[in-house]
This record gives sequence, structure tokens and C-alpha cells, in this order.
Amino acid sequence: VIEDLTGIHETTDFPVGVAIDSRETVGGGAELLTRHFNQITPENHMKPEAWYDDEGNFRPHDQALAMMDFARDNNLRVYGHVLVWHSQTPDWFFQDAAGQPLTTSAAHQQLLRERLRTHIFAVAESLAQRYGKFGSATNPLYAFDAVNEVVSDSGEYADGLRRSEWYRILGESFIDLTFEYADEAFNDVHAVKGSDPVALFINDYNTEQSGKLARYRALVQRLIARGVPIDGVGHQFHVSLATPVSSLETALEAFANLPVTQAVTELDVTTGTPVTQAKLIDQGYYYRDAFRIFRAHSDDLLAVTVWGLTDGRSWRSGNGAPLLFDDSLRAKPAYHGAVDGQ
Ligand code: XIL
Repeated sequence: VIEDLTGIHETTDFPVGVAIDSRETVGGGAELLTRHFNQITPENHMKPEAWYDDEGNFRPHDQALAMMDFARDNNLRVYGHVLVWHSQTPDWFFQDAAGQPLTTSAAHQQLLRERLRTHIFAVAESLAQRYGKFGSATNPLYAFDAVNEVVSDSGEYADGLRRSEWYRILGESFIDLTFEYADEAFNDVHAVKGSDPVALFINDYNTEQSGKLARYRALVQRLIARGVPIDGVGHQFHVSLATPVSSLETALEAFANLPVTQAVTELDVTTGTPVTQAKLIDQGYYYRDAFRIFRAHSDDLLAVTVWGLTDGRSWRSGNGAPLLFDDSLRAKPAYHGAVDGQ
């Protein structure tokens, strides 16, 4: 039973998205989704590892295509996630032919740059082949997280960057290269001529915390100063009822005077366990206040995405019901808060 409620995206000036896998493209989930959202993010199916078989061969696989088909057929935008990350990436990216870790030799650095470029172009080419060039009416993809979680959780490094395999082998340059290759692939080679259709994002979590926020902002400023083709700054916002909601606004305000757009990319609000009716009501007020903030910053926001459709499907369901709808597809106080924060 899908209740007759206002679609969330009808209450905002920006698209409202939801992370899904191919399970939400059919049945009652699909019906609920298309009523309330006008954008999707593939939760796992466009991550680096998703594109390769066990032998390391690239293939445009069924689940990614199922989500693109679903979006195209239902007039939803697709926010791609993610080209480069330290997680959910095949180990062979960082190994030589003998399975040994790549070193920082010039030859190995060159090899990793080539793998990076080949990967990005393969993703772009496979989607453009099937859906038409980016920027054409049949291709719903309009944004992509180019790099994810590259900022360190600790303040111990001068450059504030995570010590990932990408970083170990290529240093900070892997970030610049990712944006440059992605801009070439998605906004030039495979784009409608003269258009710039795919917004390229940096994305990270805990940006509502002051130390991480300062490191994130400093990195984005360096990228802009170097002329890197970055379009947007993503805030995951995996928060809880204990996170001051004002810290979400502080994070958005930190980038307001820079030449970038922003997005809330992975919003969820855990209640803690046990889940009680009182906590679900508090969560309703939390979503209300959060969406009030997002609406107040709609000029700076490309989109807002919640990280899952129903509580049971959330990666954080063990920490309490984090999303807008329950497992019977019923709207929670969180939904009512989100649409009432006007
Ligand atoms: C999570 C997915 O939700 C899970 O299904 C998967 O097992 C692990 O990844 N930051 C991100 C997302 O950028 O890709 C992560 O998604 C959650 C944290």
C-alpha cells in the first residue's frame, strides 16, 4: 500500500535523490521511489569493482544498466557514484603483473595513471554507447562523484589527505588527474558537442565536523587554484540524532563563496537502538530542520540524496532506523519532517 502523499521532490527547488540497487527498480519499491524522488544514485553498482569480472575484464554489467534503464524510463536523473575510491576497488589496480604492490617508480606511476584513465574512459564510453552522448535526452546521467573520501580523518598530515594506495603511488596528483580524465571523457569526448553535461564532484563524510571540514575546504581551494575541472563538493552527511543539525549548515556555508556547487550525497540519520516512538519523532524534527537548511541553501545545492529507500535496506540499519520510509513502505515521521520543513 503506497499512501497518497506529496512527493518529496515536489517540495524542493532541487532534485531529491535516493541510493538504490536493482531491487528498487521493480515492484512496490519502484512505485514508492518514483512518487517521492526524481533522482537516483547507484548504491554499489557503479563503484570501481562493480565494472570488472574476476579476471579484471571491464564489462557494462546488468545491474548498472538496470538502474540507467529505470531512470531513463521514469524521468529520473542519475548521480553516478564513484570513479575513484580507496574502497570497493580491485586489488590489481595497485599491483604489478606478479601481484606485487606497485612502487613509486616512474614506470609504476605511469602504469597507474594509465589504469586510471582507461577505467574512467571505459565507464563513460560504455554508458554513452548504450544511452547516447552525455547531455542528450536519452542519457539520464548528469553528475558523478569523481573522487570519494580522499581527506584524512586525522589532522596529522600537512596536506590533510588520506594515505590510500592511490595517494601512496601518485600523491595528491591522482585527484587532479581523475577530474581531468573525467572531464575529457564525460564532458568532451562522449558529450554532446559544446555542452558540459556531467557535474564532477569530490565527496566525503564527516564534513559536518570542524577538523575534517577545514581539511576538505583547503583541498578544494588548492584544486580550484590549480585550475582542476571540479564542479561540486559533496557532503555525505551520515549523521545521528546526536549530531547538531546546525553543523550541516556550517558545512554548506564553508563552500558558499567558492566557485563550486554542492550536493548532499548520502544523507541518513541514525536513531540509536532500541528504536522507540519518541526517537522516531525526534528524527522527524531532525529531518525537518535539515531540509529547512537545505531549502535555505538551494541556490548552492545541485541535489539532496538520502542513502536508501527503506530502513531495512540501510547500510546503517544496525544503529537504528535511519531513513524516511519503513520496511512496509510507509512514511515515517522523518518523511513528514522532510516535506514540512518549508
Ligand atoms: C556503502 C553501501 O551502502 C553498502 O551497501 C556497501 O556495503 C558499502 O558501501 N560512503 C560511501 C558509500 O561513499 O559508497 C558507502 O556505501 C557508504 C559510505
